[in-house]
Amino acid sequence: MRRGPTAAVAATILLLSTLLSGAPAGATQPRRGAPPAPAAGSAGIGDTYYPEYGNGGYDVSHYDVRLRYDPATDRLAGTTTILARATASLSRFNLDFALAVSSVRVNGRVAGFAQAGSHELVVTPARPLLIGSAFTVVVQYADVPSDVVVDGITTGTRTADGALAVNEPEIAWWWYPSNDHPQDKATFDISVLVPDGVEVISNGVQPLPPRGELLGWTRWFWRTTSPIATYLAYLVIGQYEIVTDTAPNGQPVINAYSERLDRLAPAARASVERTAEVIEWESTVLGPYPFEAQGGVAGPPDGVGFALETSTRPVYGWRFWRGGANPYVIVHELAHQWYGDSVSLQQWHDIWLNEGFASYVEWLWSEAHDEGTAQEVFDFAYATYPADDPFWQVLPGDPGPTALFDGAVYDRGAMTLHQLRLAVGDDAFFRILRVWAAEHRWGNASTPQFIALAERISGQQLDDLFTTWLYTAGRPALTSAPATVTTMAAPSRPRSWPTLTNHVDRG
Ligand code: TRP
Ligand code: ZN
Repeated sequence: MRRGPTAAVAATILLLSTLLSGAPAGATQPRRGAPPAPAAGSAGIGDTYYPEYGNGGYDVSHYDVRLRYDPATDRLAGTTTILARATASLSRFNLDFALAVSSVRVNGRVAGFAQAGSHELVVTPARPLLIGSAFTVVVQYADVPSDVVVDGITTGTRTADGALAVNEPEIAWWWYPSNDHPQDKATFDISVLVPDGVEVISNGVQPLPPRGELLGWTRWFWRTTSPIATYLAYLVIGQYEIVTDTAPNGQPVINAYSERLDRLAPAARASVERTAEVIEWESTVLGPYPFEAQGGVAGPPDGVGFALETSTRPVYGWRFWRGGANPYVIVHELAHQWYGDSVSLQQWHDIWLNEGFASYVEWLWSEAHDEGTAQEVFDFAYATYPADDPFWQVLPGDPGPTALFDGAVYDRGAMTLHQLRLAVGDDAFFRILRVWAAEHRWGNASTPQFIALAERISGQQLDDLFTTWLYTAGRPALTSAPATVTTMAAPSRPRSWPTLTNHVDRG
């Protein structure tokens, strides 16, 4: 399946066909049977903000990440097996990875490799890979991740009882080699051998219960069956209480609570235990839940402070529980399962498609739970930032890599959706939300595609609205509320919503 002409033969065929056709190599003339000469795959996938993230020339379908981790020493050792297909003929290709590698094989043969720059693993297979061919890469490695500094940061987090590999936009290079960009999604098998009594939580379902493998060591197994982005695969290792259930839709619910949350433990429970309820509600608003399992992880006090929408099972930092139960962070991270995880961005500059959407779903939850209408939350957000506040200088549609998660991406992104809702009316607005999720399920999409969809469904010209709210510095003037506001009570609006009041705590 992967055999083809060698590089030399391919080059000869190319030369002959070039001579015969009189066209230069690479010209668009059909060259019957002649594969392009193998070349080096690019070190980046073409992201405007992060030119070295991801790689060119291949597409991964599956990662099998098989690890051993010792919390006492932070030593991580393992083997990742990658199933991929060449999208170009490759003499060599890159993976993104920062830990020390001991060997690489491609299609069973020992391959050359070099670790370059901050996170590039350059692999030279013994034989070139021909365009369209499937291939297998096996990378063996061992390192102490907390010692590995990439571009001045360690992206993983070591805790008193274990570790978390949870971050955005970069985390994969801390624990497995990958094509590290949301454009290349894949399914995952993740297994980790840890000392007995240590828990390992990750994405998806548990195809097997944990089982003893060496004296004093237990292996945990996790699997995703829907494709996910590399930054959304994760590991949480340490002392956790695991609570399992079955969701109303029949899916497994697996929640995990750090055993070190102390006084925050009840609020964590009172929030994360609402996961299945939140998914059920969001499904009525956004359309069918796109993944196969549910859950959440409440991390330890020395873990991450933020929350992340890790696919199927988000991770929540301890800070969110300081004021008691916090359904909003649950609503936010689970909304990302539709917007961010299933419909993923094509370029990191479109980050508002993740954060603006997840934030707006919080406003919708508020409206549905009598804590303030989306309009009230909008009015509050708009008034919170005076016109001369630097907040209005960040463009949510193009914040730049250093302001990727600026408040404007969240709040002004959500405001943009609210303005869209006012302009097109509830009927069209909720149709746009659902069709967006359905048309790009498990795929990638861009802001121009979203604008085109909104225009198609509403029949309106919306360039001005999006230009003003996403791409123009300064606080937009508010026009008086349009007539479509009256459609907010239209019957298409999910019946379960009362109209109403309060708001958002992002911690
Ligand atoms: N995407 C996360 C959210 O839901 C927030 C976030 C921003 C984040 N930067 C991060 C999470 C870095 C982890 C690491 O809001
Ligand atoms: Zn978010």
